[in-house]
Amino acid sequence: MAFDALFQPVSIGTLTLPNRIIMSSMSTRMAKTGGGMTDRLIEHYCRRARGGASLITVELADVHPLMPHLRQTLWLHNDAAVEAMRPLTDAIHENGARASIQIGVFFRPVMAGLCQYTASLKSPEAQPHAQELTAVELDRLGDVIAMGCLRAKRAGYDAVELHGVHGSIMEEFLSPFWNRRTDGYGGTREKRMRFPLEVLEKTRRLTGDDFPIIFRICGSEFHPEGTTVEDAVAFARAAEERGLNALSLSGGIGHIDHLAISASYEKRGMLLPASRAVKENCRIPVIVANALTPQMACDAVAGGDADIIALGRPLLADPDWPRKMKEGRMEEIRPCIRCNQGCMGGLRDASLPHIFCLTNPQMGRLMQDTPPAAEHPLNIVVVGGGPAGCEFAHTAAVRGHHVTLLEKENRLGGQFRTASVPPGKADFRALSDYFEVVLPRAGVDVRLNTEAGLQMLRNMQADVVVVATGSDPVLPSVPGMELPHVCLAVDVLKGRVVPEGTVAVLGGGATGLETAHLLAEQGHAVTVVDMLQEFGRDIVAHVGVREKLLHLLEEAGVKFMPRRRVKSVTASGVELDERPLFGGGNVELLPADSVVVAMGQRPAVALFRELEASGIRCLAVGDCARPGNALAAIHAAYDLALSL
Ligand SMILES: Cc1cc2nc3c(=O)[nH]c(=O)nc-3n(C[C@H](O)[C@H](O)[C@H](O)COP(=O)(O)OP(=O)(O)OC[C@H]3O[C@@H](n4cnc5c(N)ncnc54)[C@H](O)[C@@H]3O)c2cc1C
Ligand SMILES: Cc1cc2nc3c(=O)[nH]c(=O)nc-3n(C[C@H](O)[C@H](O)[C@H](O)COP(=O)(O)O)c2cc1C
Ligand code: SF4
Repeated sequence: MAFDALFQPVSIGTLTLPNRIIMSSMSTRMAKTGGGMTDRLIEHYCRRARGGASLITVELADVHPLMPHLRQTLWLHNDAAVEAMRPLTDAIHENGARASIQIGVFFRPVMAGLCQYTASLKSPEAQPHAQELTAVELDRLGDVIAMGCLRAKRAGYDAVELHGVHGSIMEEFLSPFWNRRTDGYGGTREKRMRFPLEVLEKTRRLTGDDFPIIFRICGSEFHPEGTTVEDAVAFARAAEERGLNALSLSGGIGHIDHLAISASYEKRGMLLPASRAVKENCRIPVIVANALTPQMACDAVAGGDADIIALGRPLLADPDWPRKMKEGRMEEIRPCIRCNQGCMGGLRDASLPHIFCLTNPQMGRLMQDTPPAAEHPLNIVVVGGGPAGCEFAHTAAVRGHHVTLLEKENRLGGQFRTASVPPGKADFRALSDYFEVVLPRAGVDVRLNTEAGLQMLRNMQADVVVVATGSDPVLPSVPGMELPHVCLAVDVLKGRVVPEGTVAVLGGGATGLETAHLLAEQGHAVTVVDMLQEFGRDIVAHVGVREKLLHLLEEAGVKFMPRRRVKSVTASGVELDERPLFGGGNVELLPADSVVVAMGQRPAVALFRELEASGIRCLAVGDCARPGNALAAIHAAYDLALSL
């Protein structure tokens, strides 16, 4: 078998796991507001258990009513919470996996407004109203965390994971960046380790010698003042002496750099050197996470970088990741593209019910593993092989419909393939590649290089035509748009046009900024112009994507001109009207050799209208129904495929 290394048994203390793939802890916001179990949350974890992960690490549970880290979170506050937890542990076991839960305390808020205490007020990132924990409070806090672990054991968990990363209070103590104390809990590495080690000792005492305890710490905070690999090694040795059973490594510094849940702009596998170093210096198993492709995961275990792989987002995107690897079907794994849109976006955005996944619309739904078979299989023609057309075709075919997909280009993916061209977005290509593999295997008749028209569709006599023709770029009606040095951003990304000299990019949304990024990397002097103050407002914020891109653009020397309206394009540049809201201010000329337009999309509905007018049953989905993004397109396509 190609991926044998992942499917060897491994022991964490008294717990023996049949394979080396575990699910890492991920808050879902699927618990009840104010704490409590839901069917959705149970199903979420059971689905991942059925997919073959040997150990499911349930998301961080709060252990004290005054220390919530999220509004929708699990509780292990008291004995009643233990009973409420039982259905989850039982269900994970019944579905074939062992269960662990993450325990710890977060005073740095995931959602604003909950912060109360800190390791050190001298930290540059200390919350303004926080109080520094006293030695007495630390002793009590350690008891509270250890008691939470004991309740986890009573609730049927096979192990606990102590949370010492991502801005939790134990990371604050471990880190020289956060911990600027000069008492017995700070100042030297040994003193910084003291509180987390005390928590470990208390937990061991309460839970007994046989109960597996995992500790999650940073392999490195990747910050000049943060923890290093040497800190991780020192902690591993000290913790091992105190009875720790496995060390799990994450990385990055709290909520500052977003490296812990790295977006597509970051290098993959950044924690592997740290896990190798820790592994070489201790006997307990080392668990590693963060942006591992299936091949990297296998190589990491086979090559001795780690003993166990913790998968986070890849199991949101495809709960069957372990099973497919075992069966040698790696190319059928629905990829996580590190967009952080649905998962981290859902965690941060309180207006959304819970986390989602861009590539996996089934995630978070209460339904069977495969969509229900269609009662009356139909002959369906899908026009357009972008994310919407592909997702629709796949789900409809899995349900038993006879599906033909027509795509005018020579590859599947639509605009989403173009979206993978700018620097830092190569991961996005994996979704289009995945569709190219699974559509034919699901029985979809994929016809590339085939532009659908009314007559062709009439001849095909489908029961229903699903129009997923996407959207077209808008060319604004200002003078000069017809000039030869004006082009569309998508044409630049597709390599159809090569701008020359200095470039003005009109439009500061995702497409404009990402095209500017590509051009700046190619050596052009680039200025991005927008009507609004804020650039990249259609890009997910505070999850290492929008801010990262803006930072990279600044680094690459891209200039920004907000609050400007394009008056006209001339042979020598772009005439801009400043502050149009106030009746037009100064008109200024932005000199440019080339002008690249990225001023929005409009639905490509011409074919849909023709079909409607001719009486052919048709349905529109994706950008063609409503220009948005791939997440919206894929989820709408999935809903539509379930409805037929
Ligand atoms: C540079 C860029 C970056 C982006 N970044 C992101 C991002 O980070 N996150 C995100 O969520 N979204 C992003 N998007 C938006 C996302 O790509 C689109 O919202 C999504 O692709 C829409 O999917 P769709 O299937 O509805 O349409 P499209 O992707 O436009 O696909 C339509 C398909 O229909 C085909 N077609 C059209 N007419 C016919 C016909 N008559 N016959 C046969 N085939 C036809 C087209 O060739 C195309 O393949 C980005 C877009 C761009 C351009
Ligand atoms: C939505 C979401 C919530 C997360 N919540 C936690 C958490 O509560 N505790 C934790 O240690 N890690 C958390 N993580 C980090 C993951 O456990 C994992 O380390 C990270 O996503 C990198 O691994 P991956 O590339 O396999 O996803 C979360 C990640 C995501 C995407
Ligand atoms: S939303 Fe994006 S980053 Fe999150 S799991 Fe899905 S594909 Fe991965």
